[in-house]
Amino acid sequence: MTSNQPSIAVAASSPDQDVYAARLAETLGCPLCSDEDESHALLLVKTDQRLELRESGKKAPGPVYIDFVSGKSAHRRRFGGGRGQPLARAIGLKQGRTPSVLDATAGLGRDAFVLASLGCEVRMVERSPVIAALLEDALLRAQDDPEVFIIVSRMKLLRGDAKEQLLALPQEAWPDVVYMDPMYPHREKSALVKKEMRTFRHWWGMMKIVPNCWKRPGRLHVTGLW
Ligand SMILES: C[S@@+](CC[C@H](N)C(=O)[O-])C[C@H]1O[C@@H](n2cnc3c(N)ncnc32)[C@H](O)[C@@H]1O
Repeated sequence: MTSNQPSIAVAASSPDQDVYAARLAETLGCPLCSDEDESHALLLVKTDQRLELRESGKKAPGPVYIDFVSGKSAHRRRFGGGRGQPLARAIGLKQGRTPSVLDATAGLGRDAFVLASLGCEVRMVERSPVIAALLEDALLRAQDDPEVFIIVSRMKLLRGDAKEQLLALPQEAWPDVVYMDPMYPHREKSALVKKEMRTFRHWWGMMKIVPNCWKRPGRLHVTGLW
């Protein structure tokens, strides 16, 4: 971790989760503490239900976690506009063509989940170890749902820098499309900034990706919704 990143620690909210939390703290190289400890800017807490990221302080927004089964993901899966929605069009999803996708900026996995629910095989790359941990937890939980299980079985999580991950693949294993969504907007249209945007911006700051250096003429299609 570099010094301009907020301090983060890992905690368990019940004794049943102690082992999980200790392993995660070791993997991330973060301290382990009580879930009531307010001395770190961010706390990654393993509860009996899920892994969640909490911000410390009186004005902190609610926890951030990923849920592919209920809430917004379920709604978007049912009513999201299918292959006609902008995301589907951006990656060239047309009748009879279902490209394989490398989501170079997996984040909370929402776009990857939509693409997987439309039938795409999606490799999601996430360079933030904290966000990757949230994604892994959500993918595991989703496997218990009989409907969503089939969708998440098309989603593979790769950790690290997307460009490095892509270039490490043999060309025959390259995806048809690389999709990028590098930045959360700094301002919402409304004055209210969504709680997860606040927390995550806090964590990763500005990101720079130069799409042009990814291009391989005739082989890869690089796209995004920005
Ligand atoms: C705006 S979020 C993506 C949101 C995502 N499309 C979704 O639907 O939830 C950008 C994410 O990309 C990740 N990221 C940025 N640059 C990356 C890179 N070079 N390789 C892998 N992940 C990267 C960041 O850590 C962040 O989690």
